[in-house]
Order: sequence, then structure tokens, then C-alpha cells
Amino acid sequence: MLIKIAAKNALSENDVTDESVYMDRRSLLTRMGFLGAGALLSTPSQAGIFDLFGGEEPEEVALAKLQYQAAAADPQTLTPENKVISHNNFYEFGTKKTQPQQMARGFVTDPWQLTVNGMVNKPLTLDYQQLHKRLPLQERIYRLRCVEAWSMVIPWVGFPLADLIRQADPTSKAKYVAFKTLYDPEQMPGQSSRFMGGGIDYPYVEGLRIDEAMNPLAFLAVGLYGKALPGQNGAPIRLIVPWKYGFKSIKSIVAIELTDKQPPTTWNILAPDEYGFYANVNPAVDHPRWSQASERRITTGGLLADNRIATLPFNGYADEVAHLYKNMDLRKHF
Ligand code: MTE
Repeated sequence: MLIKIAAKNALSENDVTDESVYMDRRSLLTRMGFLGAGALLSTPSQAGIFDLFGGEEPEEVALAKLQYQAAAADPQTLTPENKVISHNNFYEFGTKKTQPQQMARGFVTDPWQLTVNGMVNKPLTLDYQQLHKRLPLQERIYRLRCVEAWSMVIPWVGFPLADLIRQADPTSKAKYVAFKTLYDPEQMPGQSSRFMGGGIDYPYVEGLRIDEAMNPLAFLAVGLYGKALPGQNGAPIRLIVPWKYGFKSIKSIVAIELTDKQPPTTWNILAPDEYGFYANVNPAVDHPRWSQASERRITTGGLLADNRIATLPFNGYADEVAHLYKNMDLRKHF
């Protein structure tokens, strides 16, 4: 896949939006002349998610860190971290964009348990440390396109969803993957208040077809900007499906179940005419109440810096995922 990160200020908005920013770390670093740049590795600016490993930093981790630093050097490429962690949708912590950052401040995510079960030969129950031992971390820079027509570019840290699912060894009956967010009204005030929680029937649930879940782009994030995920972004582990509207990217996951039936999904239950199961980013199919042809890319600062750009089919990841839907009417299966 083509990588488009260059020297500081060399990247235009088009460079970022027209091409996939999902990248192969090694070729990026090779092109940038970073491979073997050992001296750079010894000066991490702050403790981060990669430090969870303890001891000597694995080469992969060091490379991922470098990639993140390289990308972060270009402000046009990435949405600034302070925006990513202060403009959120996480209705369990309130429906206003700035509320999750405040309300999730004391969110306790340790201990945490993630189960992977259902139609699998090897059901898993993993705590956070076991998860990290099994699944090496990598970085992915993805566009996130919210159904509300704003978007960001975010450097996530995590691992491919397929890597975890494979460890559970799905049976041939498994056709879908269902996800569930933690249900803990004491910690998540939106879950016990219809007013604060937007009328959702909690826990928040989501789902993918199994071929979507196994696509290499589908990712489980445990960090962003090289640090552990903040509560408001879905700590300690959340899904990222970059070719779909953001509501598919369910946060704070406690359960993953392989099933033979299409699982119910929160926004589809709430408003089936507005939010489908597939929810692929599609500029040709408008939301009943607004256009999906363009989006406001959240970049550096005030309103003037927020660029309106054209929305791309599958959020610009068509080469990687369009084949999954080749015989489907995407107007019907929105
Ligand atoms: N997951 C849960 N559990 N609850 C939510 O309210 N909001 C979704 C998604 N995942 C949501 C969720 C929506 S609408 C979007 S756009 C993204 O999270 C936003 O992710 P971000 O806040 O990290 O940008």
C-alpha cells in the first residue's frame, strides 16, 4: 500500500485524503531512511503504551514509535492529539462532544477481562496483560469518518482484529462477529440516565460479518499517539473499522462472540431507517437528515482551520475492502 508521509509541511490535504494512510511501517521507515537509526530510539519523549512491554524495546515496537514520530511531525497529516481526546462520541459518558473527556476521568479499566467465545474451538478469557503477551503491538494511521460528517486522522496502536479471532479458532459455522461494551452504570453515568445516555439501551453492541472482521484493516486499538487509550477514546480496548462510519468502532469492549446470525447493533436498533448494519462510508447515500458527500476534517485549531473535504467511498479504503461487497446493493444495505 502506498505511503504518503514526507518531510515536514510537504504534505497537502489532498495527499492525505486521496490515498490510503494505512501503512506498512517497514517500508515507510525504509523510505524515510530511518531503519537502523538506533540513536533515535533511545529518546522516547514520554512513557507510553509501548512501555507496557517493560525491559528492552522490541525492534517492532521501536519502529512503530518512529513511524508515529515521523507522522506526528506533519501537522496536516494527523489530527492533533488534544482534539482526538477532547472531541468524542462515547454516550456512556454523555452525549456532548466534550463530556466524555470530563466524565471518563476516573474510569477504572484495570482489572479488565475480554472474552472471545461463541462458535470457536478455543474460547478465550484474557486480561489486559495476557492480551499484550499474545498480540504484538503495531501502529496504524487511519482516517476516522463519523456519520455526523466530521473526520480525523488518528495514529492508533493495537493489533489486527483477525490476529485475536484466529487465536480463538472459529468454527466453520461462524458467520458474524458480535461485540459488546462494558456495562457498568456506576462508572458510566450515561448507562443509567436516558437523558445523559441518549436513549440507548445499554450495553452498546456492534457487529461485523466475519469476512469484514478478518480483513487486515479491521483493528483493535489499545492506544493512540503512542500512549494507552484514554477513557474517552474507549480504554482499554476498542474496535477501529476505518472504512465504516465511526459508530461501528465500538469502545471499551468486554466481549467478542462468533455467531451464525447477524448481531443486533446499537444505532440500528435505535433508528433503523438512519443507521444500517453495514454503515460503509458512502458519499452517494445521504443520511436521511444530512448529506454524506463531504466532511469536516478536524485539523489544527479554530473553525477556520477545519477543512471541508469530499468524502471518499469506503472512506478512501475501497482498494482494500470494496471486494467484500461486490454483489450487494449498497443503497439497500446502507
Ligand atoms: N462506542 C461506545 N461504546 N459508545 C459510543 O457512544 N460512539 C461511536 C464509536 N464507538 C460510541 C462508541 C461513535 S458515533 C464514534 S464517531 C466513535 O466511537 C468516536 O470515537 P472517538 O471518540 O475516539 O473519536
